[in-house]
Amino acid sequence: MEKEKKAFLKKSAFDTSNQPLKIISRTNEIEKIVGYILDYTQQQVVPLVSIYGRSGTGKSTLVRHVCKHIPEVKLCFVNLRKAKTVFGTINLILNELDQPSLASAQGMNLGLEKIREAILNVTKLEEKKLFILALDEFDVIFYDKRGNPSDFVYKIVEMQAELKSKGCLAMIFTISNNVLSDYDLDDRIRSRIGNSEIFFKPYSKEETLKILQQRSEEAFGKKIDNKVLEECAKISFLEHGDARRAVDLLRVSAEIAAKENKEISVEHIKAASKQLQKDRAEEVISSLSHHSMLICLVLAVKTYLLDQKLHSTMSIYEKYKQYLQSEPVSYRRFFELLKDLENTGFVNSNTRSKGQKGYSSEFQLLVDPQIVGEIIDKEWWKKNVVKQKDSTDKADLAAAGSNDPYSQLYRKIRKQEKKQL
Ligand SMILES: Nc1ncnc2c1ncn2[C@@H]1O[C@H](COP(=O)(O)OP(=O)(O)OP(=O)(O)O)[C@@H](O)[C@H]1O
Ligand SMILES: [Mg+2]
Repeated sequence: MEKEKKAFLKKSAFDTSNQPLKIISRTNEIEKIVGYILDYTQQQVVPLVSIYGRSGTGKSTLVRHVCKHIPEVKLCFVNLRKAKTVFGTINLILNELDQPSLASAQGMNLGLEKIREAILNVTKLEEKKLFILALDEFDVIFYDKRGNPSDFVYKIVEMQAELKSKGCLAMIFTISNNVLSDYDLDDRIRSRIGNSEIFFKPYSKEETLKILQQRSEEAFGKKIDNKVLEECAKISFLEHGDARRAVDLLRVSAEIAAKENKEISVEHIKAASKQLQKDRAEEVISSLSHHSMLICLVLAVKTYLLDQKLHSTMSIYEKYKQYLQSEPVSYRRFFELLKDLENTGFVNSNTRSKGQKGYSSEFQLLVDPQIVGEIIDKEWWKKNVVKQKDSTDKADLAAAGSNDPYSQLYRKIRKQEKKQL
């Protein structure tokens, strides 16, 4: 452990839950956020800005960063993943404003009233010109089927207007993976929130490399071989363009290297990538239903045995029915389950036109099939799939003709084996 610790000067630089010391690139996005904020100098701000983009593209980090550097702004930043429900969100905001929680029986209206009062007080007390309510991971409240998320959005936008009439400028920033207008909102809200949107595109390879260079210098107190960082940026860019995963990949690689008492190398990056893929796959697979897990297994088997990436929905369904010992789900439901798997980032689909016959979808497993197979059932995978692949490989070689040096070698081995038998 001591050895491992000595490898780092400041390991916290790799902690992706901390605000980074320095923000790399994202000038466009920063300018857009600042643009909306500085409207306050004209006493005219838009009520709501939807900030959206894939995971790890710097949305949360940048909102915090920009607000921190504009002293006239009071930021109230809450992560709705901690709340889960509409009422939980109200309490989260109240707590962030140093107010006690309410019981849900007291109702949403009272909660919003308390929030409004607290906002008025705090902006006055701290002499701020603009109040920003940042609702991070905003998509979470749309899963609250018992509460009424659409009504909540309407009411907080109303609250913004009331605050303005009392001389207090406020804005709401929603941060999510999809643009707010894609969610289930009724029309009266759509027209009120307008379309003030800021999209965060995934990081390019060069941007990822710059973030890694900055982080590694901070963490190790020295420059790291650029080849190593380039490999790390390449893997991260190809997989997702996600800065969080890129930094995590570098951290895990550095930990593996430190354990071996070696300088971090490209091999360590590859090993860490495999390790992280496995950890993530374990997490996703353990949360899948029985049928979805089986679908994953079918995709893994087909990908591994056929050396082919894309598989038609029908061919996956046929194999799934073969493997299943109980009643299969309908073809339609099966298709839905496959589509759901796409949301986990495990599977990708590709729709092709078949001319007059309509469209057909093909699916691809995005994770190493061996990793999936071994997580679901290691014994079964080895016995039924790996063995089958080995035997077909050999049979293929044998059938490849006598000029083929491998097939001659194979025959020799088989002869010896038979003799031994
Ligand atoms: N431009 C950047 N410069 C330096 N570090 C960055 C930058 N963008 C992101 N990061 C780092 O990447 C990590 C993820 O960023 P962040 O949490 O802001 O992403 P996000 O878009 O909010 O993702 P999610 O949708 O998963 O919440 C953070 O640790 C952050 O420090
Ligand atoms: Mg975030």
